Amino acid sequence: MSRTLLVTGAAGFIGANFCHYWAARHPGDRLVAYDLLTYAGNAASLKALLDRGQLTLLRADIGDAEAFGRAMADHDVHWVVNFAAESHVDRSIRDPGAFVRTNVLGTHVLLDVVRGLWGASPGAERRFHHVSTDEVYGTLGPDDPPFSESTAYAPNSPYAASKAAADHLVRAYGRTYGVPFTLSNCSNNYGPYQFPEKLIPLCIVNILSGRPLPVYGDGRQVRDWLHVTDHCRAIEAILTRATTGTSYNVGGGAELRNLEVIEALCRRIDAAFLTTPSLGERFPSAPAARGEVSASLIEFVRDRPGHDRRYAVDGRLLERDLGVTADYTFERGLAQTVQWYLDNEPWWRAVMDGSYQDWIERQYGTTAP
Ligand code: NAD
Ligand code: TYD
Repeated sequence: MSRTLLVTGAAGFIGANFCHYWAARHPGDRLVAYDLLTYAGNAASLKALLDRGQLTLLRADIGDAEAFGRAMADHDVHWVVNFAAESHVDRSIRDPGAFVRTNVLGTHVLLDVVRGLWGASPGAERRFHHVSTDEVYGTLGPDDPPFSESTAYAPNSPYAASKAAADHLVRAYGRTYGVPFTLSNCSNNYGPYQFPEKLIPLCIVNILSGRPLPVYGDGRQVRDWLHVTDHCRAIEAILTRATTGTSYNVGGGAELRNLEVIEALCRRIDAAFLTTPSLGERFPSAPAARGEVSASLIEFVRDRPGHDRRYAVDGRLLERDLGVTADYTFERGLAQTVQWYLDNEPWWRAVMDGSYQDWIERQYGTTAP
């Protein structure tokens, strides 16, 4: 059966990867990208799909009930996949209101519209899938068991609190009004098309530009790294096979300290410069262009306020119910990601945002030139 998927936040990092993934595996389905194209949204990430006519792009706000209702009706949507969000913890420290507006109120608008359209008996072919984060669970001590689906919510950043509120609304709309939802809480994603404000792409771009690599605090905070393609595969399994009303945690099985991640990136880029001498000409400010190591750019800076110490995800329910585990090792995923950024310099040069960079440098006391 051919379906229509409306993907909010489709021009962002995970949304764009999801659209590419879906179009390749389900060529008979129709994709409607619904995205406000904020600083984090980039239509260029969807270019190949737009050129091939495999996707329709609508520039609109998830907080705009009329626009969303029209999109739903015009395209007779079966599945909504909600990626749209303000997604960066540091930005949520600078401007929490934007996170409440988009993540909480925006999700509420989507839920209200689908409830109105689909009614109390939506039929088996309708689904609202909400994409959330492991950050809703708060922080773990070094010996705590990983977050499971029954771990209590205890968000610490404005970002995490806004995502937690949205998750609660999704669940409540399911229980109260019969909105047919599924929900997933995943760990830190990495891969192609990620905006260079998040740790991995930021460090890649800074190494290539010879800028400092800001390590918040002692750099011993732990994240569980999930390659974005493994995340897309998990969402596909949940959409196509999970029972309505269920939540799944999605992890990458790769718990690493931030400093380990940064050092692995430095080694990877140094090795690339050794095997591909033309990189030295393309990126003359990179330490490796002068025969120095990228790790010389590491700089310890002020810690992030409220910085969560450790995230780790227990993915056993997803494995048991749907047979999904992560395929990518961190090493393979990192190599693929570094190569993508080396091959796609015009993409990342076009999306950099000067005013935010200035704020980050003041906030954390980095010494970028
Ligand atoms: P992103 O910041 O790269 O992209 C967000 C997208 O949403 C952008 O295209 C932006 O233009 C769009 N958007 C923002 N506000 C909007 C609005 N009001 N209306 C319509 N579109 C709007 O985010 P991402 O990293 O791709 O994350 C996608 C989802 O996954 C988010 O819900 C995020 O909370 C969740 N998540 C991300 C990660 C991660 O590591 N990136 C981890 C866990 C969960
Ligand atoms: P980030 O990519 O912002 O994801 P999240 O905060 O959602 O986990 O950060 C990942 C980790 O890296 C987090 O512990 C904060 C840290 N970090 C730095 O040390 N320096 C940086 O410049 C950034 C952006 C993050």
